[in-house]
Amino acid sequence: MNFPHLIYGGDYNPEQWPEDIWIEDARLMQEAGVNLVSLGIFAWSKIQPTQNEFDFDWLDRLMDLLHAHGVNVNLATPTASPPAWLVRGYPDVLPVTDTGATLWHGSRRHYCPHSISYRKHAAEIAARLAERYTNHPALKMWHVDNEYASGVTECFCDASAAAFREWLKQKYSSLDRLNESWGTTFWSQHYSDWEEIHPPRKAPAAINPSQQLDWARFNSDSWLACFDEQKAILNKFSPNLPVTTNFMGFHKPADYWKFASHEDVVSNDNYPDTFDPEWMVQSGMICDLMRSLGDRHPWILMEQSPTHVNWRQRNPTKRPGVMRLCSYQAIARGADGVMFFQWRASKAGAEKHHSGMLPHGGTDTRVWREVKALGNELPKLDSVLASQVKADVAIVLDWENWWALELDSKPSNDLKLLPQLYAYYKPLFDCNITVDFAHPESDLSRYKLVIAPNLYMVNDSTVKNINRYVENGGNLVMSFFSGIVDQNEQIRLDGYPAPFREMLGLLVEEYAPYPETLTNTIRATNGRSFECMLWSDVIHLKNAKAIASYEQDYYAGSAAITHNTFGKGNAFYVGTVPDKNGMEWLLEQVCRMADIQPISTNAPAGVELLQRVNGNSSFIFALNHSNEKVNVPIERRGSDLLTGTEINGSVALEPSGVAVIQLK
Ligand code: GAL
Repeated sequence: MNFPHLIYGGDYNPEQWPEDIWIEDARLMQEAGVNLVSLGIFAWSKIQPTQNEFDFDWLDRLMDLLHAHGVNVNLATPTASPPAWLVRGYPDVLPVTDTGATLWHGSRRHYCPHSISYRKHAAEIAARLAERYTNHPALKMWHVDNEYASGVTECFCDASAAAFREWLKQKYSSLDRLNESWGTTFWSQHYSDWEEIHPPRKAPAAINPSQQLDWARFNSDSWLACFDEQKAILNKFSPNLPVTTNFMGFHKPADYWKFASHEDVVSNDNYPDTFDPEWMVQSGMICDLMRSLGDRHPWILMEQSPTHVNWRQRNPTKRPGVMRLCSYQAIARGADGVMFFQWRASKAGAEKHHSGMLPHGGTDTRVWREVKALGNELPKLDSVLASQVKADVAIVLDWENWWALELDSKPSNDLKLLPQLYAYYKPLFDCNITVDFAHPESDLSRYKLVIAPNLYMVNDSTVKNINRYVENGGNLVMSFFSGIVDQNEQIRLDGYPAPFREMLGLLVEEYAPYPETLTNTIRATNGRSFECMLWSDVIHLKNAKAIASYEQDYYAGSAAITHNTFGKGNAFYVGTVPDKNGMEWLLEQVCRMADIQPISTNAPAGVELLQRVNGNSSFIFALNHSNEKVNVPIERRGSDLLTGTEINGSVALEPSGVAVIQLK
């Protein structure tokens, strides 16, 4: 990315408005400091009203108008919402559910990623746009489609079935290998012809889990193939412009590690529910994922709401200052741009009750004033551009493991990955320890501490990587139900968790999950006692030592949390889900052992601290999420880029206040 200021703007849908409003839009964008808009995301039927008719005149005028007002364009391929003529002429575009029902036109994202007609027409409109606008001076970035794998996450039509078979042939090359990997001797599922294989359509009972897992992989690959196809076209016409597609945080159906590696810049849509008192933690975790997906390079907050959304059961307003706080949180966690859905609140359609930067009430509104103030403030942070956030702690996240872990027919279907990631993330967030997310096969040696919650499915390369990390001196926390199956979702025999038993110094003999109403307690070696829930591993110690043991049930007195030294490193194993206090106690000890320092040890409660670094320049972001005025100790001298105030010892923050301190 090559922008002189932090990016500021939003989705712009001018096709919803008469042309005389566009001039006012451009003028107000300038007034609000908008320097980039995402244009045309849902404009397919406006650009191509019928199959043989293209209308670019209006878009030409808009691009020129925006350029004249200093507003750059992130031009979208409008392929997330196929026009009615396309669906009517080529019904194979429409997606089909696992029970064979067709999903119809009238909303958006109504397409099957395997439909040849869809792919052909999507490629054509992408090429037409690229050819026409590649040299337009307003064009600075390409935005492909919108939120891949949302709405429709998978399609079960016959074309999808055929594509699935092709994908399987590529992967296994022979039916023998497929039968072996899927374990088809079970329940008489053996295949003797590729044509016998179907997507996991609705069936009477549990469907083959290996088949389901391959189906998840296949679907994620298919969405990525749609992106790749368009990206190749855009690259051909605009070899020097970045191409992105907007992510949706922890979105299960699409493997974002793969997606991110095909993108030029990571961008994300983030809509925290501010009724949730922990919204800033959830949202911080999403920001950290985005930074990690892009290998710490700056990313873009592509969409957030200026105030309320309209798609939750009840939709909170963002109270005064909260939109600004959300924006700075993203920047603090590595974003170089803050954008919104959408510029002007719609008059018609399903999103007319969603907020816009420019509300229905116009410019004499709180929201507009906050939007304008932020846009005019951000240029003070030019020196922050391209700086990076460094973390000493990583939480392991693997989409394939996520899919496998949450397939049905498990010891407990209550076990879900995200709450477990969150349980480890939250105490670290609370004490201002910055966390990356890491793929289990990536280079972990740059982290002092690696946390692997429920890493149920591991391939051989992950096994090697994690064992080597500890052996070479790393500190690992691994939680229950890890290392259980291989990449085909088949049990790794020889006692749980077979590939990590030696490193962890223990054997898990059985799992004992709990119903929602039951808990146990664990007592730590220092005498403290904590509640634990969801699951207990019944552990036999080999070389490891217990640092907490169960107090109740038939395994009372046996180890619940253990520590082992392996090679030069330390391996902790957590056989259950400790409560909040237990988790804080555990992470405090582990962080001490791994020599992890928070950004500050004495920040007041509710204050979020982050650091961005660029060569010799270092910036501390302080965000006050509490309702109190606070004084935040800052151990080094600096100046607040937002106010120009010299900082010597501490900075005072109003409720929802922010400071960005460039250190001396
Ligand atoms: C996003 C989507 C936007 C808009 C927004 C509303 O998920 O990309 O087009 O619908 O939600 O919050």
